[in-house]
Amino acid sequence: MRTVETVGDLRASVASFRRRGDRIGLVPTMGNLHEGHLSLIDSARDHGARAVVVSIFVNPLQFGPKEDYDTYPRTPEEDRELLAEKGVALVFAPTVEEMYPGGQAAATRVEVPGLSTILCGQFRRGHFVGVATIVTKLLNMVQPDLAVFGEKDYQQLIVIRRMAEDLCLPVEIVGAPTVREKDGLAMSSRNRFLSADERARAPELYQALCEAAAAVAAGQPFGEVEERGMARLETAGFRPEYFAVRDARTLASPAPDGGDPIVLAAAWLGRTRLIDNLLVDGTR
Ligand code: PAJ
Repeated sequence: MRTVETVGDLRASVASFRRRGDRIGLVPTMGNLHEGHLSLIDSARDHGARAVVVSIFVNPLQFGPKEDYDTYPRTPEEDRELLAEKGVALVFAPTVEEMYPGGQAAATRVEVPGLSTILCGQFRRGHFVGVATIVTKLLNMVQPDLAVFGEKDYQQLIVIRRMAEDLCLPVEIVGAPTVREKDGLAMSSRNRFLSADERARAPELYQALCEAAAAVAAGQPFGEVEERGMARLETAGFRPEYFAVRDARTLASPAPDGGDPIVLAAAWLGRTRLIDNLLVDGTR
């Protein structure tokens, strides 16, 4: 496994995989890898990737001024060990200067209107512009056949799918199921910021989603399900931002009868912001 830090070295390595005829899969991450990240590598292989490229880059453009860019966990050595064990072909770990040579403020941006300003986008202004911009750059640098993203960040996956479609990017966007701890908490790099007491309460987020998904499946009105979800999280000591039933494909309000509903929530537990979601059909 090679680790490269520059776009030039990245392109040279990827070109050698192409010459071998390998189908190339890209897994973008911000590092501090856990089993959720590693499952995306398996998904890439399940979708036929022979050479898997993993990028590790904590992207400053997707963090707000008061967010945790500086304290975001960075564990490059451990990450590289895990990726080597996993048989990854190449790790791309660029510096901020390499990704934004003209500086962040002047960087060209990619915006997916509408989808970027609802749900998480309403509370994290500019976040999805930062995500769409960096993912576009990574896709252009690697030019993979497919790229894998977790359903854990469901809105991110939908934003990226729309962006790839709108910009005619020649890549297959693959969504991979959420990997959870035994008690249901979705794995996340930010879980390490939870105190012991918060960690014990954190699975209530998933439980609230399960109850809401069951209620939607039983035909209860979406508005009532959302209100109950907000109240349940507050009672459990969370500060919820939203608890919403949406259409899984568009993230718009679902039609009362048809569609494919999903329940999504974001909530603070102490100083940690947790997000999670659950498809109502109960398959994930
Ligand atoms: P990061 O939070 O490091 O996540 C990288 C990828 O891992 C994302 O596609 C995310 O959805 C997926 N992932 C995280 N936790 C998961 C879990 N428990 N189960 C399954 N997949 C999980 O998301 C980002 O980085 C960034 O926004 C990025 C796309 C890299 C752009 O900077």
